[in-house]
Amino acid sequence: MQIKHIIAANPADMARKAANMIAAQVLMKPKCVLGLATGSTPIGVYAELIRRCREGDISFRDVTSVNLDEYCNIPAFSKNSYRCYMEENLFTGIDIAPPSTFLPDGMAADFDEECRRYTELIDRMGGIDLQLLGIGMNGHIGFNEPADVFTMDTYRVALSKSTREANAVHFEDGMEGMPTHALTMGMRPIMQARRIVLVAGANKKDILEEALCGPVTPRVPASILQLHPRLSVVYSET
Ligand code: GLP
Repeated sequence: MQIKHIIAANPADMARKAANMIAAQVLMKPKCVLGLATGSTPIGVYAELIRRCREGDISFRDVTSVNLDEYCNIPAFSKNSYRCYMEENLFTGIDIAPPSTFLPDGMAADFDEECRRYTELIDRMGGIDLQLLGIGMNGHIGFNEPADVFTMDTYRVALSKSTREANAVHFEDGMEGMPTHALTMGMRPIMQARRIVLVAGANKKDILEEALCGPVTPRVPASILQLHPRLSVVYSET
């Protein structure tokens, strides 16, 4: 196990440090596959990448992106969808080709089929070069919620009450409009990513410690990351 801990003084510093790693990945391999995450924590990272792209320091022209997850039964054009989050917080601000940005289709008629398609899609890309992750208060990554087993490939997951409550703050109609299910990448493509950058704010101190220093268990999904050979954790102290 080799975890690189990068302590950031504050959220802006965290965003800069995580963006440094993503930018380095893109510079090193312009035609790379980036695994992307949603939530509040990566927003500053994306803002930093947009700034660097606008200033001409990096280009995402040849990058392919693949997101961790999407809500079920929320149309892509809805403000609440992760597709919309990605468009607003990253894609429209950088020069990535829109057809090269992928998320699971939460409106698919057949979710099993969609999960298979997404798994195969990631495999066809040759896997992920760098996966950006956040962490949920209960230790979830993507939407891999605490469970009895680690699920390997894309699947439809029932969201836990605590996750729904935590994420309802981003929904205009709060818990009312909050979906019960999501499609999420499983642990295999995450663990096969050549490099992982996990960003976490000071509010995640306890769960981060449990995930990185406690036993590896599907009850704390992020604990599996202890087995990843190239994990960098960028933690903001404030
Ligand atoms: C959602 C996402 C996760 C993310 C988590 C934490 O549940 N599916 O990928 O890590 O939120 O989000 P935040 O950064 O807002 O705490």
